[in-house]
Amino acid sequence: LNYLVPAKREEILRILIKGLQRLEYRGYDSAGVAIDSSNNAEDSVSDIAIIKKRGKVKALEEEIAASTQSLDFDREFNCHIGIAHTRWATHGEPSACNSHPQRSDPNNEFVVIHNGIITNYKDIKTFLEKKGHVFESETDTETIAKLIKHIYDTKNEVNFRQLVEAVIQQLEGAFSLVFKSKHFPGECVATRRGSPLLIGVKTRYKLSADHFPVCYSKDARHSDKSTSNLALQRSDSTTEFQPIGPNREVEYFFASDASAIIEHTNQVIYLEDDDVAAVSEGALSIHRIKRSIDESTVREVITLKMEIQQIMKGSFSSFMQKEIFEQTESVVNTMRGRVNFETNEVVLGGIKDYMGEIKRCRRLLFIACGTSYHSAVATRQLLEELTELPVMVELASDFLDRSTPVFRDDVCFFISQSGETADTLMALRYCKGRGALIVGITNTVGSSICRESHCGVHINAGPEIGVASTKAYTSQFISLVMFGLMMSDDRLSMQQRRKEIIQGLQKLPEQIKEVLKTDEKIHSLSQELYQQKSLLVMGRGYNYATCLEGALKIKELTYMHSEGILAGELKHGPLALVDKAMPVIMIITRDNLYPKCMNALQQVKARHGRPIVVCNKGDAETQSHAYKIVDVPYTVDCLQGILTVIPMQLLSFHIAVLRGYDVDCPRNLAKSVTVE
Ligand code: G6P
Repeated sequence: LNYLVPAKREEILRILIKGLQRLEYRGYDSAGVAIDSSNNAEDSVSDIAIIKKRGKVKALEEEIAASTQSLDFDREFNCHIGIAHTRWATHGEPSACNSHPQRSDPNNEFVVIHNGIITNYKDIKTFLEKKGHVFESETDTETIAKLIKHIYDTKNEVNFRQLVEAVIQQLEGAFSLVFKSKHFPGECVATRRGSPLLIGVKTRYKLSADHFPVCYSKDARHSDKSTSNLALQRSDSTTEFQPIGPNREVEYFFASDASAIIEHTNQVIYLEDDDVAAVSEGALSIHRIKRSIDESTVREVITLKMEIQQIMKGSFSSFMQKEIFEQTESVVNTMRGRVNFETNEVVLGGIKDYMGEIKRCRRLLFIACGTSYHSAVATRQLLEELTELPVMVELASDFLDRSTPVFRDDVCFFISQSGETADTLMALRYCKGRGALIVGITNTVGSSICRESHCGVHINAGPEIGVASTKAYTSQFISLVMFGLMMSDDRLSMQQRRKEIIQGLQKLPEQIKEVLKTDEKIHSLSQELYQQKSLLVMGRGYNYATCLEGALKIKELTYMHSEGILAGELKHGPLALVDKAMPVIMIITRDNLYPKCMNALQQVKARHGRPIVVCNKGDAETQSHAYKIVDVPYTVDCLQGILTVIPMQLLSFHIAVLRGYDVDCPRNLAKSVTVE
């Protein structure tokens, strides 16, 4: 960073900590920072101080505050590189030692932060141990720090960026990396493969470059994969971003996602896999070692529309609570400009040019993980009805495990809030490699899934920070419904059904508002349930997805055992769990499966179960059989799942709070799982 005005160390640390707090939802079992440790402005080579702490970013903040004795907080810098990381453990338990930055040696010559997993780290570690390197952590990341030092010690006259290029040629797996070194003060090098990384650029002026050029190795066109065993390739650095204005004043922010940097700048560049970005003497350049025929030679400078308020909690106690209550607006944003309630037309701009191809396809595949997968389960029946095509709904990991056959005339949808989930992204690449049309459905503009899809839909729910997904689910649900409506717009026989659904969509925001009014009632229900060990959620048909999603919310937030049970399967096993002590929630709304749902209700009651029923407002018949009720407005059958899932979101939220848990950061989980 070259500061617009000289910055005090205290301010630099504040920026790093704030950035980490914004990213904390991605991982929160330990955190750390590395900064220049010199207290004297005259020092030409600065040592690096690393501060790390197990626990949340708050704990790190306190640790830093306690280090005033060793660090002069008032020391001013015109130029400084600081790096920071919040971790979700993959290799090695959460501890200060295993957290990042990881270092090359006790003198902190090279330090690195890493997201992802290095799959060949054991081989590299064995190699380095033979060379005398002593490892202190259990992480895969430490091999990277030691490898760069090893190359530095054995090669002469190479710059920082070339060292990083040499390192990544040895790495397999997924990574985004940011390096700092005492040998290259004021310089920073970052790179990615498979894990997200973007660069925010803050200057006094709007960036004039619409597109930022990429620098290639001189012989890039001729390079082949087998080049170099720790060999270094040279890149020419003729094109770099020269900051405008006096004194080249500019600040660069490298981050996994935009929420960490949006308060500083909205001008960002998303890096591609194997890009190596280097900042040296205030100038940024992006390099690639190899060049493939059809890749882009520029990186677009994107102006983000995200507002800082969107990633603040406001008056809510947690992001999750805020996001549940935002659903009245987020569903509107998902439909905005896409559904015409007068003419019953639905147009999704991101896929409209591909509709011909989609309508001619062999089958539709919907592939996702977690809550995003549930949105596909929720809409499968409607999509089968409206498209009259075979619809497959798949969990990305299982889809890959089975090496599922995929054909050129398949259309594959990848649904992902973050657009970065590793399993989903790998399934996307698998299908793309087999020639299928790839449609991305994401909430994150510029994410990997967005960029690697042929076409897609942004669900426009706004940033979702709470680890447990809520508003993204309802917006994914609506996006898939809109897709079904678009697929059936030329089918005469479907017009009545389409009209009914579109009218249903129009009423949804008001009806969601009504459901949210049950909050107090659900809070009391939670008081009755929060000490239980287990909770079953039953339903069928259009409401089955609500059972799966409701049970997932309960287990991830409250750590209670919970199962979503297809009511049709009750008699084939789950009924054995039911007795008067087992809490059971049943979702029973007035659709064509109502009589069958009532059978299930009777079966539960016959085993002395005491069902809490989520049902339609005014449905006296159902309510008379229930132990407790939560009522939601009636809507068209295929949209009912949007209204029945909200009480489950609220219930899991209240139970988690009553049990004293952090609802935004449930234990052992992360929002964006960028590892396999
Ligand atoms: C993680 C999150 C879930 C999310 C899932 C898929 O497990 O904790 O809330 O549903 O990943 O994430 P995606 O970003 O692909 O929708």
